[in-house]
Amino acid sequence: MSHRFAETVFTKSVKEQQKAYGSLAHNEKLLTNFGPNDKMGSREIDFISRRDSFYMATVSETNWPYVQHRGGPTGFLKVLDPRLLAFADFRGNTQLISTGNISVNTRCSLILMDYPNRRRLKILGRIRMENTTDPAAEILPEIITDKFSAVVERVFLIDLTAFDWNCPQHISRRYTEAEFMENTALAAASKEQSN
Ligand SMILES: Cc1cc2nc3c(=O)[nH]c(=O)nc-3n(C[C@H](O)[C@H](O)[C@H](O)COP(=O)(O)O)c2cc1C
Repeated sequence: MSHRFAETVFTKSVKEQQKAYGSLAHNEKLLTNFGPNDKMGSREIDFISRRDSFYMATVSETNWPYVQHRGGPTGFLKVLDPRLLAFADFRGNTQLISTGNISVNTRCSLILMDYPNRRRLKILGRIRMENTTDPAAEILPEIITDKFSAVVERVFLIDLTAFDWNCPQHISRRYTEAEFMENTALAAASKEQSN
């Protein structure tokens, strides 16, 4: 077996550091014993469908990594098939930094956080952009199913390279207003029942 995520990020220089710090053998087990993590399964698909935001890094032609936060209605990042993700991109602030970066380098890296359950999913992929005016954009209705307040200018399609789960350490639990209200109501109901 091979672990596609580890294969992609464990570059020569990364392995040199692992060797220097004594973790190379441990990390090589990941390469041989786990994976392949190159196709999303039900766990990943369910996790993604519950997210209302994520962070996405792209790379400029001057090699600067650039991270942007993306937010929308829960499930706005769609899994179209186990190796294809998509989301709508808005007219926005017209800086077009991610869009410009993607036009020269299709690589992207996403991190999706589930703060209440202390879980995080990392995704590597290659982005294709489709303008909403593109007649070939047959999949648009699947992606633009939500009522967005801003104008959807293009769709980002992400061909999955690999994914990986991170350990929950150091993730503090945080709740959205809706989650907080729900938990408070549940706690109150359970207190009432026990009285
Ligand atoms: C009216 C308006 C609505 C927006 N709505 C969203 C939104 O729902 N989700 C989001 O992630 N960004 C939203 N944005 C932000 C833009 O899309 C933002 O410009 C884009 O993420 C910038 O990307 P960049 O940093 O790669 O240039 C909105 C911006 C404007 C002006």
